[in-house]
Amino acid sequence: MTVSQRARNIVPSATLTIAATARRMRAQGIDVIGFGSGEPDFDTPDHIKEAAVQALREGFTKYTASGGIDELKDAVVTRLKRDNGLEYSRDQILISCGGKHSIYNVFQALLEPGDEVLIPAPYWVSFPEQVKLCDAKPIFVHTHEQEGFRLHRALVEPRVTAHTKILVLNSPSNPTGAALTRDELAGLAALAVERGFWLLSDETYDALVYDGHEHVSIASLGDQVYARTILVNSLSKTYAMTGWRVGYTAGPKDVIKAMDNIQSQETSNPTSIAQRAAVVALTGPQEASHRMREEFDRRRRFIVERLNAMPGVSCLSPQGAFYVFPNVSGTFGKHHAGTLIRNSTDFTAFLLDTARVAVVPGVEFGSDAHIRISYATSMSNIKKGMDRMAAAIQQLR
Ligand SMILES: Cc1ncc(COP(=O)(O)O)c(C=O)c1O
Repeated sequence: MTVSQRARNIVPSATLTIAATARRMRAQGIDVIGFGSGEPDFDTPDHIKEAAVQALREGFTKYTASGGIDELKDAVVTRLKRDNGLEYSRDQILISCGGKHSIYNVFQALLEPGDEVLIPAPYWVSFPEQVKLCDAKPIFVHTHEQEGFRLHRALVEPRVTAHTKILVLNSPSNPTGAALTRDELAGLAALAVERGFWLLSDETYDALVYDGHEHVSIASLGDQVYARTILVNSLSKTYAMTGWRVGYTAGPKDVIKAMDNIQSQETSNPTSIAQRAAVVALTGPQEASHRMREEFDRRRRFIVERLNAMPGVSCLSPQGAFYVFPNVSGTFGKHHAGTLIRNSTDFTAFLLDTARVAVVPGVEFGSDAHIRISYATSMSNIKKGMDRMAAAIQQLR
């Protein structure tokens, strides 16, 4: 049996693979510090869990409308108004099984074979693979470390062609943590309107911004850009709800309708119980989420300082999300126990072997000079992991 060309054309999620390796090593009794997973270490807040328990007790365990329950769509409308200053109606909202599923449905609804999708690099690993699953072409727009990995109009414009269908935005970014300013977004919005392409704005990390950065939703920058923006968000990171699988999309009615049709033939509704919990997460008290943000901020400052003190490593201070993306190319060309470190994959293998620290090689995100470290793990793990990493780097010759 031969699987399809489409299936052969994509690679599995590197971040999930690294997390699985670390889990397997731990099961073998090896003490590994995992910085691979983009998953908050916090538990889902109790009042959210309670809503799910209540839903179960009430027998809310049947199919719902495939695109989600009205109550949750209304909660999303409320959230987007409250936190993003955006006006949507219920029929402009679709609830899906996580942000990843939302994004896949957007691509399925908009892309024709051969269409080009502009993806800023470094990029989240799933963007190019999902585009390929739709027989469309990922076109990378390289951002520069010297510019803080910021995306701006001058980088995008030369990459736009007659085939450009969508520009993907991910601010704050996974993996770099770069968060775009209002001016940068305005430049990109103007370009999208002039050249007539869609914007897929993945705002999964919008609640996790630091140093007074103001998150701006590009759809809020005027009617014309609003009409060509599809906003995706998720409850996974903001509310520590990765396992619940709830994400949502807001956009023009016809696109949302097309996505709903696709979803109705694909997964049907997201889990009924998780939807009821999501209503409470979005509309209930936000303190737990704010506390998580404060703790991420504390870890961010600590980890950036520790990394910059390591020889051969330099790390920008990110404005958002819960990742750092240090440049480790200063260690390339060095050896450990007779093995040469040539690239981010070698460095990652060296860290796992020598320090028992799991990170993701930057090459998976489109930059081989870097590694991605998630600080969505406890401060004690971070301290231990940084100590081990520093000691391992000292051994390089
Ligand atoms: C940039 C980005 N978008 C979307 C997602 C999707 O998250 P989920 O499917 O858990 O909602 C992730 C998760 O890692 C992410 O990093």
